[in-house]
This record gives sequence, structure tokens and C-alpha cells, in this order.
Amino acid sequence: MRVLVTGAQGQVGHELLRRVPAGFSVSGFGSQDLDISNADQVLAVFTSIKPELVINAAAYTAVDKAETDVERAYAVNSDGVGFLAAAAERLSIPLFHISTDYVFSGDSDKPYTPDEGTQPSGIYGLSKLSGEQRLIEECSRHLILRTSWVFGAHGNNFVKTMLRLGADRETLSVVADQHGGPTSAGSIADTLWALASSFQQEGRLDWGVYHYSGAPACTWYDFANEIFTQSISLGLLERRPQLTAITTAEYPTPAKRPMWSVLDCRKLADGYGLYPCDWAQDLRSVLQQLGDLKGA
Ligand SMILES: NC(=O)c1ccc[n+]([C@@H]2O[C@H](COP(=O)([O-])OP(=O)(O)OC[C@H]3O[C@@H](n4cnc5c(N)ncnc54)[C@H](OP(=O)(O)O)[C@@H]3O)[C@@H](O)[C@H]2O)c1
Repeated sequence: MRVLVTGAQGQVGHELLRRVPAGFSVSGFGSQDLDISNADQVLAVFTSIKPELVINAAAYTAVDKAETDVERAYAVNSDGVGFLAAAAERLSIPLFHISTDYVFSGDSDKPYTPDEGTQPSGIYGLSKLSGEQRLIEECSRHLILRTSWVFGAHGNNFVKTMLRLGADRETLSVVADQHGGPTSAGSIADTLWALASSFQQEGRLDWGVYHYSGAPACTWYDFANEIFTQSISLGLLERRPQLTAITTAEYPTPAKRPMWSVLDCRKLADGYGLYPCDWAQDLRSVLQQLGDLKGA
């Protein structure tokens, strides 16, 4: 099966390309070769590759910058998804798309189910929700996988920020009142490939919105704590910085962060036997990979 992967140089895109299962031939395009916000480029690539499935890992992900770069955030996260959706529909092929916990208000205290009401509070979440809506309207065979707190060895993320700051500073303050599920980019890629394999074998999927994130839910503070515990045991850091738990109010950011990002992943487990990853276990492999890269 010929698969087109967009955003191939991002965290998830990179892992999708590293983990291609047998039976798939993949063309991965980074932003410089395929800008999804350019409708002509999208059509030209679809015409030349003739994919049988598209996985969109491209997105405008700079949450704070989006607050002032509104036009670009919508151009990529909404229009871009719309162009991919229209092109996929024209070829009668499915489009897998990745979305985010930021589509929710974050005011809940129970894990969000895929059909729960959305209410984003910032431009990033609004533009991603708009992209979901374009996809649902314009492509009949769509699969939207919402995820949260993505980390991996490739790209920028919280794990790498903690390692960098931890090496430089004696003390670190980390937000301890936001809850979510850290999710490895590798496990998202594996989940998407498992769904692609199911589509390849069955010729169908239950199209719609799904949630996928790591378990168990924790706070950024808990996540940072585990990052330092594991980094020291793996010899990536020599000493542990002293961590101070702070509130969201003590760490103001241009875009509001959801206080509650916990996703209910049962629809994917019940429908496809795909369960949340154990984020602490995935963290160990990511740190090992970073250690190998450092040593290389
Ligand atoms: N990161 C998270 O914590 C998180 C949480 C929840 C959901 N998600 C979602 O998960 C998906 C993957 O995120 P990620 O963490 O892998 O993001 P990422 O590392 O920022 O990768 C996104 C990729 O998209 C590319 N891109 C940006 N604009 C583009 C355009 N117009 N055309 C084509 N490519 C473009 C970027 O390329 P350039 O760098 O060259 O611009 C980048 O390589 C996204 O849909 C994101 O919204 C992420």
C-alpha cells in the first residue's frame, strides 16, 4: 500500500518513517517539499505519488506564537488540512490526521471522551479544531487521532528542555497543577500503523475521532521528576536539580494551557485492541536513544 506522510520531519512524522511495517511503501514529505497550506502543491504531490492512504503529521505546533501568528496557524492547521481532505476525497482514499487535547477547555476532572463537547481557549486549539471540522466535512474516510504531551528523541519537547535546563541549573520550577498523559511519538506512530494495517487487511475502518495518549495521567512536575530519576540512572545527567512545584498562575504564558488534558482512550482499545502506552517505559527508550546519539 502506497502511503504519503506529510510533516515527515516532525516528532511524529520522523517516527512514522522509522517504523514502516512490511507491506507499506512510504513517501515522506517535509515542509520544504510539501507545504500543506499550498493547495497546488498538495494536488501536484497527490497526482505524482498516487497514495492509497495519507497520514498528516504536519501542523503549526508553536502554541504561544500562534496567539500572534493567527493567519499562519489557520493556514496550516485548518486550510492545509482542508486541502489534504479535498485531495484525498477526490482520490477516494482515507486521510489519517493527528489532533490535540487543546480542542477541550481543560475545565473537566474526568478523562475526555472523543464525542465530548470541544471548547478551545487559544488560537492553536481553535485552528486545530477548525482543521478537524474541515476534515470531517470534506473527506468521508477520515480518522482523527487526538493525543497529548508528545515527546521523542527527535525534535523539540519537554524531555529535551528538562535535560537541557537540568544540566545548567541547580533548581527548576515546574508546573504541578496541569494534568495530562505524556505520549511518545513512537507509540503514536505505531498506533497509526496498526490502524493502517487494519485498513489494509479489512478494506475499512470505523472512521471518526479517537483518543490516544500515554498512561497513567500525571502532572508536568511528575513527568519532570521521572525524567530526572531515569536520566541519572542512565548516566545522562550527573546530578539532579532541585525541583519546585509551582502553579500555572506562577508560570504565565501567552497562550492559556488546559489544566486538564486527560484523554479517555477506551474507544481505540475497545475497537482495535490498541491500548495507551506506558509513558515511563517509553521515556526510558527515548533517553537511551538520546544517550546513544550523545555518545555517537
Ligand atoms: N507536540 C505535542 O505535544 C502535541 C500534543 C498534542 C497533539 N500534537 C499534534 O501531533 C501532531 C504532530 O506533532 P509533532 O509534535 O510531531 O509536531 P512537530 O514536531 O512540530 O512537527 C510538525 C511538523 O509539521 C511541519 N509543518 C509545519 N507547517 C507545515 C506546512 N505548512 N506544510 C507541511 N509541513 C508543515 C513542521 O515542519 P517545519 O519545522 O519545517 O515547519 C514539522 O516538521 C500535530 O498535529 C500536533 O498538533 C502535538
